[in-house]
Amino acid sequence: MMPLVFTLLCLCVLKMGGFSSSVTQASVQSDVQCYDWGVWSEGSVRVYDGEVAYIYCPLFSHPTLYNYTQNSSQSLVWYQHTHTQELEQPIDRKSQTLLRVREYLWIQPATAQDAGLYICMLRNLSSCVRISVELEVVQKKGECDLSAQPQLNLTVPFQSDRILSCPDLKKLTLPNSTYTISWYHLCRSTKFRGDLELKGDNVVIYRMLEPYKGLYTCVVSYQMNGRTLQFTRNINVIPVVPDFGSKVPIILNPANDQIYTVILGDTASLSCRVHLPHLYGEKQDIWWTIDNKTVEQLADPRFSSPEDNLLSYNYGDEKKERVLYVKDFSADDLQREFNCSARNSHGFNTSRAILKTELYVPTLELGCGLGVTLALMLMMFVIYHVFWLELLLLYRSWFGSDERYTDDKQYDVYISYARNSEEEEFVLSTLRRVLETEFGYSVCIFDRDSLPGGTITDDTLRFVGQSRRLVVVVSPCSAVRGTQALLELQAGLTSMMHGGSLRVVLIQFKPVQRKSWVKELRQARLALTLIRWKGEKSAPLSSRFWKQLQLELPMRRTTQHTHKQTQLPDVTQHTPDTHTQHTHQAEEKLIDPYSTSVL
Ligand SMILES: *[C@@H]1O[C@H](CO)[C@@H](O)[C@H](O)[C@H]1NC(C)=O
Ligand SMILES: *[C@@H]1O[C@H](CO)[C@@H](O)[C@H](O)[C@H]1NC(C)=O
Ligand SMILES: *[C@@H]1O[C@H](CO)[C@@H](O)[C@H](O)[C@H]1NC(C)=O
Ligand SMILES: *[C@@H]1O[C@H](CO)[C@@H](O)[C@H](O)[C@H]1NC(C)=O
Ligand SMILES: *[C@@H]1O[C@H](CO)[C@@H](O)[C@H](O)[C@H]1NC(C)=O
Ligand SMILES: *[C@@H]1O[C@H](CO)[C@@H](O)[C@H](O)[C@H]1NC(C)=O
Ligand SMILES: *[C@@H]1O[C@H](CO)[C@@H](O)[C@H](O)[C@H]1NC(C)=O
Ligand SMILES: *[C@@H]1O[C@H](CO)[C@@H](O)[C@H](O)[C@H]1NC(C)=O
Repeated sequence: MMPLVFTLLCLCVLKMGGFSSSVTQASVQSDVQCYDWGVWSEGSVRVYDGEVAYIYCPLFSHPTLYNYTQNSSQSLVWYQHTHTQELEQPIDRKSQTLLRVREYLWIQPATAQDAGLYICMLRNLSSCVRISVELEVVQKKGECDLSAQPQLNLTVPFQSDRILSCPDLKKLTLPNSTYTISWYHLCRSTKFRGDLELKGDNVVIYRMLEPYKGLYTCVVSYQMNGRTLQFTRNINVIPVVPDFGSKVPIILNPANDQIYTVILGDTASLSCRVHLPHLYGEKQDIWWTIDNKTVEQLADPRFSSPEDNLLSYNYGDEKKERVLYVKDFSADDLQREFNCSARNSHGFNTSRAILKTELYVPTLELGCGLGVTLALMLMMFVIYHVFWLELLLLYRSWFGSDERYTDDKQYDVYISYARNSEEEEFVLSTLRRVLETEFGYSVCIFDRDSLPGGTITDDTLRFVGQSRRLVVVVSPCSAVRGTQALLELQAGLTSMMHGGSLRVVLIQFKPVQRKSWVKELRQARLALTLIRWKGEKSAPLSSRFWKQLQLELPMRRTTQHTHKQTQLPDVTQHTPDTHTQHTHQAEEKLIDPYSTSVL
């Protein structure tokens, strides 16, 4: 392989005649001394297939490199390494398409086969340096291509004038050749009028306006050695703010009256926003100082300030932000001077950030605490609303006092009801039974407990007076004058109003219209508790009805307990009478055979 390559190389070299000796010298020397700069990426050239291209040898623009003059001892050699070639080849001086003009290599025209690396080498007897430039050949999409990469970005301030000339036109050494030039703006060729005019080879913008921005394309074609050659250039015109006015950076934040709140012990982040006027790509600095020291000078790991970032762009004017982070902000830091500064070639601005502490509020912990408190409150609210009766009963069972020990009354409950009504059935079969057998109250029912012979009025008053509670089962019939029910009610209300130890409790078995109530009841209604029977729903002992009733009746600590534990609270099931007697033997001295027969 190697001898073959060498032979090929020698053949090439020999073919090139006079040029050959220098090439062999170069290859001999480059083995030891040729310094390779590699590929110069910024200089890469993109050309349309079939158009003229030129490649500039970048060695001449490098300030430390040799001054190239025709009479110096150094010589410039070009090599070509296209994608189809295996080896670098020296460029034939006599080639029709490859033309060397000083530090430029012209390819007229370039075709897809010419794509590849072009190496320019500068050398004398003792030293050698080389650099490569890439040539890219692309297909042209029609006469004008809007998506083309511009060769030039041209910023033009609004209201100002500008002459657009086709790049590289002057570079063509065509002293006496004729050429034609076509201009397009946004790929339209007819729109040159008004403040935008075609003048000679150039496009003149008399007054820059928004519609004149965008891509300008020039296509130049000329004759050379009997061939028609052509090249295309694209210029991107970018409008920017006018050049007049102050170009000093303006610090927007910290503003004069702005106060930054910091939290002691937490990370403080101070944001600085600066308006940077358009200055044609000039570098403009934004930085924070702490007591007139930059973050770098301070060299404290607690302080950091990442690079600024662009917030907005408006025709060249920029708004940028730079943030200063201070970890574990301390009370001492509060005494320091935090300044944000900005500088460009036109001036300098600085502004101090005024700081204020805020008490350390551990938001997360607080949030959790608050959440838990709220949840607890909600829970208690729900519990209270669902179980308030139970809670009250429980409270009373702990703290209430048994009235039996403080008075000498005979009955706990006196039940008043209208005879011959629906209520009567309820009183005798349900209310009385539950109060006596389930809750263990001593119940007085006039018809059962009064002894025959006495005056009804006197007996009623006596019995009511002997009871701790008067339970009135409200019924439309209660209103009938002269009935026993009305008498009982009047007795109870009178006793209650005159400071007696009797309390009146109302039970509504069936909805009764308020206006059908007796006058006395209507008047006393507001001061009395009304418990409503809600049919089947109220039947079980665990229902609201019984709990409410229990709450209104005197407290029974022990009996209540034993019953709750031993008996399933189902009122609809009739408990045997033996049981009734067994539990309430002590209290029920006056068992009437009549009442049991009703059950
Ligand atoms: C190249 O030549 C110019 C004058 O032609 C001179 O000013 C410059 O210093 C020279 N550069 C070097 C690197 O010698
Ligand atoms: C090259 O030659 C010109 C005269 O022909 C002379 O003036 C110039 O100084 C020379 N340059 C160098 C670098 O020798
Ligand atoms: C070759 O060029 C280098 C750099 O300019 C110079 O220092 C050296 O003297 C030259 N050598 C010869 C033999 O001319
Ligand atoms: C022109 O600007 C565009 C976008 O800003 C950029 O991508 C492109 O490289 C620039 N071209 C030149 C030649 O500066
Ligand atoms: C261009 O051509 C004109 C005549 O056609 C001639 O006088 C002139 O010298 C030429 N210029 C160059 C640079 O060759
Ligand atoms: C910055 O400087 C400009 C011009 O000197 C001035 O108008 C502006 O008020 C200054 N702004 C601040 C925040 O210092
Ligand atoms: C801040 O420090 C710079 C040098 O680092 C000095 O020129 C400037 O006057 C100082 N400014 C103040 C306000 O102390
Ligand atoms: C900080 O900014 C204020 C204006 O807000 C200025 O008076 C002061 O001199 C600045 N301090 C430093 C150190 O630059």
